[in-house]
Amino acid sequence: MTCTVAVLGAGGIGRHHANWWRVEGAEVVAILGRTPESVQRSADRLKEQYGFAGGCYTDLPTLLREARPAIVDICTPPAVHATQARQALEAGCHVLCEKPLVFGSALTSEEMLQQAREVTQMAVARGARFGLCSQFSVVARTCYDLLQAHEPGDLLKLAVELRSPVRGRTPDPVQTWVDLGPHLVAVLQTLVPGAEPEWPEVRATTDEHEARFDFPVPLQDGASLDVQFVVGFTTGEPANVRRVVLNHTPFDLIGEAGPDGHFRVRYRSGTGLDEPRSDPMRLLIREFLAGHPPLGPEAACENQRLLLRLLAALPRA
Ligand SMILES: NC(=O)c1ccc[n+]([C@@H]2O[C@H](COP(=O)([O-])OP(=O)(O)OC[C@H]3O[C@@H](n4cnc5c(N)ncnc54)[C@H](OP(=O)(O)O)[C@@H]3O)[C@@H](O)[C@H]2O)c1
Repeated sequence: MTCTVAVLGAGGIGRHHANWWRVEGAEVVAILGRTPESVQRSADRLKEQYGFAGGCYTDLPTLLREARPAIVDICTPPAVHATQARQALEAGCHVLCEKPLVFGSALTSEEMLQQAREVTQMAVARGARFGLCSQFSVVARTCYDLLQAHEPGDLLKLAVELRSPVRGRTPDPVQTWVDLGPHLVAVLQTLVPGAEPEWPEVRATTDEHEARFDFPVPLQDGASLDVQFVVGFTTGEPANVRRVVLNHTPFDLIGEAGPDGHFRVRYRSGTGLDEPRSDPMRLLIREFLAGHPPLGPEAACENQRLLLRLLAALPRA
């Protein structure tokens, strides 16, 4: 039987989610937006691009009652993630939630972490599938597998750099970290499950839009992983920087159309590797449908904890 999905917030990144659910064999039966006009605009765009024929809603309880999706995919702004996840879980749905799991400027770190715990524990208690949507978990696995096939060895150095176009935003490194940080944390969590930075040694700096962290992570056998995280914006070319460095091998992620016309990602290293792979978002959705989201409830909560703890280390103006 076809799995049914509701995409909450199909105007931004949710538009791409909707496409991958369809390509991976699920049916998007409903979308949610803020107003009848805005949700209709999203629906028209989806209809034109992918033949969307589902329902349009502006009220989540009504959507859940009438469309009865098996999966709710939350692609709305972070301030409403926890409430929508709770409502979806109460209706018996599985939940995929965009990163960051929880963020609200009026909330304290403790309140945000508490909300993350409540929602993920609720999913576990109800036997629902729950996933945090950071495709960088898939990216981390891909880079690691490519490196091991090419140059096997222990991982002792990890650097991740993400930058996207500035689009007129005023410099706010805290916001940049909240927005992009979950992906960097996802890379670390995936490569070193249970990773805990050596907190007293965390060095955090900011410069304009940029936030930068350097810290060691103790490994088993007394070894240590040297971690560097950088997030920021770009004002020229390349418009997007997505770079993962494992030991001394840098992988640049380059988006392109594959032979089937679908977006995919090329992993290009400075050491001769140049490997195309399916879009990591598509692979994440595939894994969610197969019953094993890359970042399940525990990892989602851990992502929130590490995001906030590193955020607290940033110098404030
Ligand atoms: N994984 C990734 O690579 C990635 C990339 C980008 C964004 N994200 C994450 O995805 C989430 C959304 O980001 P975005 O850039 O797509 O945002 P966006 O462009 O502002 O889109 C947000 C969507 O949410 C809807 N929306 C907003 N408030 C709502 C509410 N209270 N109830 C119902 N719908 C509401 C809007 O609907 P209408 O306009 O139709 O009213 C719009 O379709 C964020 O958590 C962001 O961090 C992830």
